Amino acid sequence: MFSVSSLKDEENEITKSASVSSKSTSKTALWEEEKMGKQLLLWRLRRCMLLLCVCMFAVSGCSADKKEEASKQESFSEAEEKKIRIGISFDSFVIERWLRDRDVFVATAQNLGAEVNVQNANGDVAEQVSQIEYLIDKKMDVITIVAIDAGALSDVVRKAQNAGIRVICYDRLIRNAGADLYISFDNRMVGTLMGQALAASLPDGGEIFQIQGSSSDYNVDQVREGFEEALKGSGITIAYTTFCDNWLAELAFDAVSEGLKKNGGKVDGIMCGNDDLAGQAIRALTENKMAGKIPVVAQDAELSACQRIVEGTQTMTVYKSVDKEASAAAKLAVALAKGEDITDASSQIPVTETIDDGSARIPYYALEPIAVTKENMDEVIIDGGFHLREDVYLNID
Ligand code: BGC
Repeated sequence: MFSVSSLKDEENEITKSASVSSKSTSKTALWEEEKMGKQLLLWRLRRCMLLLCVCMFAVSGCSADKKEEASKQESFSEAEEKKIRIGISFDSFVIERWLRDRDVFVATAQNLGAEVNVQNANGDVAEQVSQIEYLIDKKMDVITIVAIDAGALSDVVRKAQNAGIRVICYDRLIRNAGADLYISFDNRMVGTLMGQALAASLPDGGEIFQIQGSSSDYNVDQVREGFEEALKGSGITIAYTTFCDNWLAELAFDAVSEGLKKNGGKVDGIMCGNDDLAGQAIRALTENKMAGKIPVVAQDAELSACQRIVEGTQTMTVYKSVDKEASAAAKLAVALAKGEDITDASSQIPVTETIDDGSARIPYYALEPIAVTKENMDEVIIDGGFHLREDVYLNID
């Protein structure tokens, strides 16, 4: 194969010998000169043709590259287009657990190739409705909702479903909406565990306060049912009960103060809707020199609650593995987006139960809550990787 540089060398050779010959004046020399000239012309022609070929090759190569690039672009945007899109609307991130829910949900969905759009309604129902509408406009495949108000979202859920979007009730049931899935811990069981713990701490019965969470959160009704059922026959009576709307912890402080006033300064135990409320209830007990003297039960296994348990001011909490709930929800969201039948026994996470949402029975994926006391703190919370030993025992020598 010849190259441009070898042709160039050959031409140089010819030019060189022609210029040497031009010094001769004889006939033969003239004829030689003419021959050299023709040869030189021929080589120049050959070189031009070769350069032309190289250019044509380069141009055609370029356009092939361009075609390849364009088709790559096409398949990239097709993949982008086909990427599963999941929207998730949170009530708020005030309570410790929800950030963990968010992080695990997003990471799991992304690992499965989905894209997640996270919205935070900051406890405002109207804001949550408009965020869900935004997610509908953005053409999500699935919308996951942590409902602020169980009774206020049925219309927007139907709107999403009419647009071909599947809807998941995350942790809290949305009533009368016919959602595609409800995933949560068995909230009735959460209440049962709280009731059993109080009954065990008060074997002779007593008068307790029931400081519940938000009245618009359906979990609160389910927890109450389980709790009151578990108290039956225990000799425990509920001397004071109230709700803390929007799960506002300050309200728990006021509630304990008010309950004590109404009940002549007497209380034998307190049930709180979650650990955040328990923190404030215990603050009120501290002000009344009662902290650590009466049992307090709650849920979530927040770090501060685990610390209070090992320190002795809280009796128990209910641990709900947020990691399990969020990762199962993300996997089920992706399965729903792919049009899989999640209720089929052969599916990756088969959803075998159903729950009545008030208008229909919808698929229900239930997780099991675990009661945590001083006795099993290490085994469940520390060995289970929920909190670090040095954090839980921070204030203990
Ligand atoms: C959840 C609790 C949480 C509470 C406040 C409830 O619906 O089940 O785990 O502490 O909401 O956010």
